[in-house]
Amino acid sequence: MPLAIVVLAAGLGTRMKSDRPKVMHPLAGRPMLAQVLETAGALAPERIVVVTGPGMASVEALAAPHKVAIQAERLGTAHAVLLAKPALEGFADDVLVLYGDTPLLTVATLEKLVAARRGADRPAIAVLGFRPADPTGYGRLVMGAKGLERIVEEKDATAEERAIGLVNSGVMVIDGARLFPLLAKVGNANAKGEYYLTDLVGLARAEGRACAVVEGEAQELLGINARIELAQAEKIVQDRLRAKAMAGGATLLDPDTIYFSWDTQLGRDVTIGPNVVFGPGVAVGDGVEIRAFCHLEGARIAPGAIIGPFARLRPGAVIEAGAHIGNFVEIKKAVIEEGAKVNHLTYIGDARVGAKANVGAGTITCNYDGFDKGHTDIGKGAFIGSNSALVAPVTIGDGAIVGAGSVITKDVAADSLAVTRSEQKELAGWAARFRSKKSSRKKDKT
Ligand code: UD1
Ligand code: MG
Repeated sequence: MPLAIVVLAAGLGTRMKSDRPKVMHPLAGRPMLAQVLETAGALAPERIVVVTGPGMASVEALAAPHKVAIQAERLGTAHAVLLAKPALEGFADDVLVLYGDTPLLTVATLEKLVAARRGADRPAIAVLGFRPADPTGYGRLVMGAKGLERIVEEKDATAEERAIGLVNSGVMVIDGARLFPLLAKVGNANAKGEYYLTDLVGLARAEGRACAVVEGEAQELLGINARIELAQAEKIVQDRLRAKAMAGGATLLDPDTIYFSWDTQLGRDVTIGPNVVFGPGVAVGDGVEIRAFCHLEGARIAPGAIIGPFARLRPGAVIEAGAHIGNFVEIKKAVIEEGAKVNHLTYIGDARVGAKANVGAGTITCNYDGFDKGHTDIGKGAFIGSNSALVAPVTIGDGAIVGAGSVITKDVAADSLAVTRSEQKELAGWAARFRSKKSSRKKDKT
């Protein structure tokens, strides 16, 4: 049976105290709305409609290619769903309502909810409920002999109703044939003066239809209203990503200190040391070792490479099989070919380091002259002596050697030696003469 999903995201998110819409705040590196849309998409709905507020261009851009409805005035959750009506034209099956600020819901929980709506007694509405440690602020689920009777909002509840521990998560599946007829009956004579979506339950019961509750886990239903909840949600998302990494065959030495991006890809037998941070767009091949204190983003690491400790891989870093990137090394937009070594205190940007080349400690590719970026090409098996500056654009041929401390501004041919430092002079006995002169003067003064 087909399903349509309406995501409510018109809230201003005042308590975030932010210039960006609440649902655009990131979890594991992507907007929370993107996570909600991914979960929604996993249910393979016939269509998705995002209800957002006016002037939220970033939300509209993220929602594309789904349908978007704009709620100019926030008149309540029922009003928001009503605005999805044009976008639901021609659709009469089940409608699932999700909130853009409740991103931790899992596909499995939603599948259970959808199944409940399709259960034997054909409830008109299936509501996802839960039992939070503190139910304050939530709508309470009032149960009767025939299941869910109605939902009462905190502000409209009696003391007795407020004592109910089972609350409304906001997520519900509604019989599409009844959705808009019921919505038409919703009024706003309540404490908030809003059109409550939760009123649909009482209205369906008045028509003699049953309503069902599926209980979910409080942790999955965490709604984000302020930065403190954003931080709590980030912790939960990170724990899930860590568990997924380990289930996929990676060893995490101290999981709580490793931070993933939503899209981090890890092969089998990857080992990750403590305090490693993944930004977006990192793919790690089988058997790679990432040692402690690395920061990686936009990087591709091939099987068997060793990274760190203390390495930074920036976007466009491609580390090929068996290459070694050591401590205090920064790589940006550069290919480090098979078996090459860049082990100490080095910056490689806009470059290629050929297979088996060895880049000595303190080497810098001078890739920027203040105006343009230049490319550095280091040939296969080349050896760059320590503390050399390679002023781009420049090419070091295959097998060439650059003497330590050189500033290379011209191309070096294959198998040549290039050295730019001045020649070494040696004055025999000079140091001894210097010391004795200095110490005799010191004696004269005392
Ligand atoms: C709502 C429920 C409550 C439930 C709680 C769970 C209603 C009447 N109450 O209350 O039973 O326990 O969520 O968190 O539904 N929104 C719009 N347009 C509007 C109003 C809201 O898009 O006009 C969106 C918000 O952006 C948010 C969601 O709907 O994503 C819920 O709105 P909110 O104002 O937070 O409702 P609550 O009072 O928390
Ligand atoms: Mg709320």
